[in-house]
Amino acid sequence: MPKIGNIQLPDFPLLLAPMEDVSDPPFRALCKEQGADVVFTEFISSEGLIRDAAKSVMKLDIYEKERPVGIQIFGAVLDSMLKSVEIVEASGPDIIDINFGCPVKKVVCKGAGAGILKDIDLMVKLTEAMVKHTRLPVTVKTRLGWDHDSIRIMEVAERLQDVGCQALSIHGRTRAQMYKGDADWRPIAEVKNNPRMHIPIFGNGDVDTPERAMEMRDKYGLDGAMIGRASIGYPWFFKEVKHYFKTGEHLPPPSMAERVDAAKRHLQMAIDWKGETLGVFETRRHYTNYFKGIPNFKDYRMKMVTSDDSASVFEAFDEVLETFGNYEFA
Ligand SMILES: Cc1cc2nc3c(=O)[nH]c(=O)nc-3n(C[C@H](O)[C@H](O)[C@H](O)COP(=O)(O)O)c2cc1C
Repeated sequence: MPKIGNIQLPDFPLLLAPMEDVSDPPFRALCKEQGADVVFTEFISSEGLIRDAAKSVMKLDIYEKERPVGIQIFGAVLDSMLKSVEIVEASGPDIIDINFGCPVKKVVCKGAGAGILKDIDLMVKLTEAMVKHTRLPVTVKTRLGWDHDSIRIMEVAERLQDVGCQALSIHGRTRAQMYKGDADWRPIAEVKNNPRMHIPIFGNGDVDTPERAMEMRDKYGLDGAMIGRASIGYPWFFKEVKHYFKTGEHLPPPSMAERVDAAKRHLQMAIDWKGETLGVFETRRHYTNYFKGIPNFKDYRMKMVTSDDSASVFEAFDEVLETFGNYEFA
């Protein structure tokens, strides 16, 4: 069974992917309840942390019930990365994860995220320095390479392991692909099958059904699956995968009552964490997925995503339950 440093994980753990504006404490709590074995924060800018930017600092908030939890940081400047390791360590996570995979232009153009795939020496140097600078296990999340012609994930994996990286999560796309095309899990399996490798190799990209998760485990032989988009507005995905592994059968989709309950708790936790205004505003993006596929739902959705006060949103949830309580999800 895989271990990250001293953290013992179950067989084929399911990891909640770091996702900006999604993987915040309320969402992580819901995923944890539904079976996520490790959760990661959204990425945090090392430059923001050392400037003490409020937005970055707030993302450091973690809670006992979500452990083991990894805090993810990004950056490309050694000094800033080391200072931010100290700041991150002080907030007590179980893991520090380095983002070497973000494809977004504003990150890449500073040489951070997937930008560093163009300078593997620097990637290794930063990782080594960070490993030496903390007592916490350091993990890396990255992509296959910069583009199709520069897939060097095997070299990257070996060198990161050699400098003390404790686990690797690999998204089966290149930076050039962004999110287009299908994730290719074959190069990830090659890394896993390299006899030199002994740290856990987690696969990421397009795990969107329990069958796909099983394929990642049984056909590709990876150590665990990191799950992103399939969980957005659907934290039940973790439980569904685990049930399928155990029984070979699919759980029925969550009922309307369960969805309303999750949406309510999500909103309440968001308000408790960041206050009424931000809580109401920033939880809006999740509702579409919680209530996906319900016919004639537009008026209710509009009320949820345009109301400025939480009382009206809670009221909309109750109306949904009253009106669509018997709706059968496919
Ligand atoms: C809304 C969104 C935000 C993301 N933010 C981050 C991030 O902060 N850090 C990171 O390493 N990856 C981030 N990603 C990438 C995901 O972690 C993951 O690698 C990607 O979505 C592929 O996995 P999936 O097919 O399971 O979604 C983000 C993805 C999405 C959709």
